[in-house]
Amino acid sequence: MDVFEAIKGRRSIRGFKPESISDADLEKILEAGISAPSAGNCQPWEFVIVRDQKIKQKLVQAARGQSFLAEAPVVIVICADVNRTASRYGERGRTLYCIQDTAAAAQNIHLAAYALGYGTCWVGAFDESAAAEAIKAPAGVRPLIMIPIGKPREKPKPTPRTPLRERIHQETF
Ligand SMILES: Cc1cc2nc3c(=O)[nH]c(=O)nc-3n(C[C@H](O)[C@H](O)[C@H](O)COP(=O)(O)O)c2cc1C
Repeated sequence: MDVFEAIKGRRSIRGFKPESISDADLEKILEAGISAPSAGNCQPWEFVIVRDQKIKQKLVQAARGQSFLAEAPVVIVICADVNRTASRYGERGRTLYCIQDTAAAAQNIHLAAYALGYGTCWVGAFDESAAAEAIKAPAGVRPLIMIPIGKPREKPKPTPRTPLRERIHQETF
């Protein structure tokens, strides 16, 4: 699939069929994730692949009841090993770069999953310590994004965007 087709066609999916994901597809999707750029190529990302229903339920609770997380056959929890970037870039690495890096990996994952016929949703509204506890994240590893992934049970309409011309500034703001 053409990259522009994936960018334009992807939608947030919040309903999934029970059909599982093949290991080969999951690997391809995660490979797309780690192909993202990262500050100093520190690659702070860690991916926790959750298939266990009990752990998924804990993630739903952490995410204030967003039950569609548990409907997906797999939830990828993208974490940042903060010290990997902070040891090189200090405060800016800790508070900015490692977060941008995981976001870049997440977007690659969304697009690759869409290109392979899967639906995903970026889930960011969750209690970080509850999520960390659910996946037993070690100290210094922050769960930042949850991505449920599976065959879509819905086909949402495109969401609106503010026209580009209203967001572009020539030369200065
Ligand atoms: C940082 C971030 C956090 C988000 N958190 C949630 C979330 O917790 N739950 C949810 O259903 N959608 C969440 N979304 C998805 C947005 O609601 C969605 O991307 C937006 O409405 C545009 O729709 P689209 O993805 O279909 O283009 C989040 C997206 C981003 C980028």
